[in-house]
Amino acid sequence: MTEKQVQLIKHSWKLFRSIDPALIGDVFYGKLFQLMPSLKPMFPDSMTEQYIKIVDTLSLVVARLDKLDEINQEITQLAVRHVQYGVKPAHYAVVGQALLWTLEKGLGNDWTPEVAEAWLRCYEKLSNTMILAAYGTS
Ligand code: HEM
Repeated sequence: MTEKQVQLIKHSWKLFRSIDPALIGDVFYGKLFQLMPSLKPMFPDSMTEQYIKIVDTLSLVVARLDKLDEINQEITQLAVRHVQYGVKPAHYAVVGQALLWTLEKGLGNDWTPEVAEAWLRCYEKLSNTMILAAYGTS
């Protein structure tokens, strides 16, 4: 990820976070379960709390994007917990698709091809790290 891409992610995340979390949560999980309905039973009924947790984690990742090694332990532990939730490596791509789609809807005109490319790289990096940590392959 280039320095420019790190800046694009930080800026777009700041804009995105000003949107009502409940609304974003509905859009994100709505899209996720539309893409893969079989994932729904894995999640609790109340998704608001779930959404806040994932957004807080993404905020931590975005804040440390240029030095992800510093939070390697947190990322590894998160990935290992996900194995217990029943998450498989292939699920990461679907979650990434739903996340990028939600960012696109939320950012509107601020979702440029450069921003999209930067987020794709960011999610790839995070998900590859998690998959490698939890399953030993990516
Ligand atoms: C970059 C990717 C992801 C991030 C940052 C993330 C973040 C989180 C966080 C912070 C939690 C709260 C619980 C905890 O900390 O252990 C959580 C729970 C969970 N995540 Fe993820 N997640 C990611 C990918 C995925 C994927 C690919 C799936 C597959 C469907 C998934 C399914 C779940 C489920 C089922 C729970 C537990 C819900 C519950 O029982 O409360 N996550 N995730």
